[in-house]
Amino acid sequence: MSQPCMLVVDDETGVRESIRLIFGKDFRLCEAKSGEEALRRTRDEQPEIILLDILMPGGNGLDTLKQIKALHPAGQVIMLTALNTARTAFTAKESGAFDYVTKPFDVDELRLRVSRALERTQLSSELERLKEEVARKYGIENIVGKSKAMLDIYKVVALVAARKSTVLITGESGTGKELIARAIHYNSDRCAKPFVVINCAALPDTLIESELFGYEKGAFTNAHQRKVGHFELAHGGTLFLDEIGELGMGTQAKFLRAVEMETFTRLGGTEEIKVDVRVIAASNRDLEKLAGSGGFRRDLFYRLNVVSLQLPPLRERREDILLLLDHFLKLKAKESAVAPRILAPEVIDCVMSHPWPGNVRELENLVERLTILSPHETVTLADLPEGMRFRDQTVSLKEKVLQGSSPLSDAVDEFEREMILKALQKTGFNQTKAASLLGTSRRVLRYRMEKLQITESDQDPQDTKLSG
Ligand SMILES: Nc1ncnc2c1ncn2[C@@H]1O[C@H](COP(=O)(O)OP(=O)(O)OP(=O)(O)O)[C@@H](O)[C@H]1O
Ligand SMILES: [Mg+2]
Repeated sequence: MSQPCMLVVDDETGVRESIRLIFGKDFRLCEAKSGEEALRRTRDEQPEIILLDILMPGGNGLDTLKQIKALHPAGQVIMLTALNTARTAFTAKESGAFDYVTKPFDVDELRLRVSRALERTQLSSELERLKEEVARKYGIENIVGKSKAMLDIYKVVALVAARKSTVLITGESGTGKELIARAIHYNSDRCAKPFVVINCAALPDTLIESELFGYEKGAFTNAHQRKVGHFELAHGGTLFLDEIGELGMGTQAKFLRAVEMETFTRLGGTEEIKVDVRVIAASNRDLEKLAGSGGFRRDLFYRLNVVSLQLPPLRERREDILLLLDHFLKLKAKESAVAPRILAPEVIDCVMSHPWPGNVRELENLVERLTILSPHETVTLADLPEGMRFRDQTVSLKEKVLQGSSPLSDAVDEFEREMILKALQKTGFNQTKAASLLGTSRRVLRYRMEKLQITESDQDPQDTKLSG
């Protein structure tokens, strides 16, 4: 970190000189003799610490204090006061000064107070940075995808963020439900308040209730102390119920009441607790269907489904795959401080045609694994997990045929090539034996090999070693 800056505002030359002696080594010092000059220097230098004399000719130090704080809220002001103005010093703290010292000052005491003030600026700038980072991370602009389905989702996110409506997010595992829930929270005026997550699938129903509503001391055998529930923790912010389809019927009833009334009581308690909470729920199950079969309360479904967002599986928005790929290649490289991997064209083909049952999370995990484990900068087919490689070569072509982008004959050729190669490898490239294995003549086999451009160099080197 570069040297912090300290501004000394005092009309007495002696005071400014002694401050220079004490702090000249640790700070970049600047000085001002009047309130007006102090404001100018504050604006130009943005000092971390400001030592401000409370009594100055032609201006009240307290007024200057207020103006400095308005101009540069992150700067910490320490008032310098004479003994007989201790009362004013008290008012100064009320007006936003961090601390005060009385003149003539004790050097050690002044050092101590300055170092505390500096610690405060560093902490608060760190806090600001973290807050910004979180907000940036969950900003809509950080959600990757330009497919029509995703563009529609951003529109709804932007619209609902500003309101308090309950939102129900559905979609297969790994489609980004939690990411969208966070984006709604961090784009709302609740962003400075907590985003509290509770995963209904992770805990048995009895525990979910105490997690949601909390309990009083003595509510049950192990309740040695009062526990504040997630509903209360989320006050002013957002409560995100993940996998809400797993909530038991009894808890659903209690939850519905709490959402509707915005009041509840802790388990074993009588006090009605009032909260202001925005609820977002997510599920990878079809809740409407579940409600139809009696597995979910219909009234709760309607209450949650005020705004619903359905996240499409990745295989239905293939145009987003390349964007996501690029995003994760850069992200994972940055996280592990290496150069982004480059994907060979056949790897990209494979990725494009993979069905991605685990959706974006599966893609993210793959890129992470390749970034960490792949020994070369360029990723080739051999670096892909085996299941993906083999399934994909056929799936990709099959899909291309079904999408009309490849003729059927290509898929047939591909299949034939694979079978002939396997037969040849099995027989040590003995064409007569391979032909008989395939139930054809050597002549037809040779003809097909020529057509499919299969040569002895297609022999798997490992097989050569084994058979030789
Ligand atoms: N559109 C997207 N852009 C960037 N990252 C995404 C996108 N969608 C999902 N991700 C990332 O993929 C991972 C999985 O997303 P998330 O946890 O939100 O999915 P989910 O639907 O809640 O999954 P599950 O049902 O398994 O809980 C996260 O790391 C998330 O950041
Ligand atoms: Mg999730």
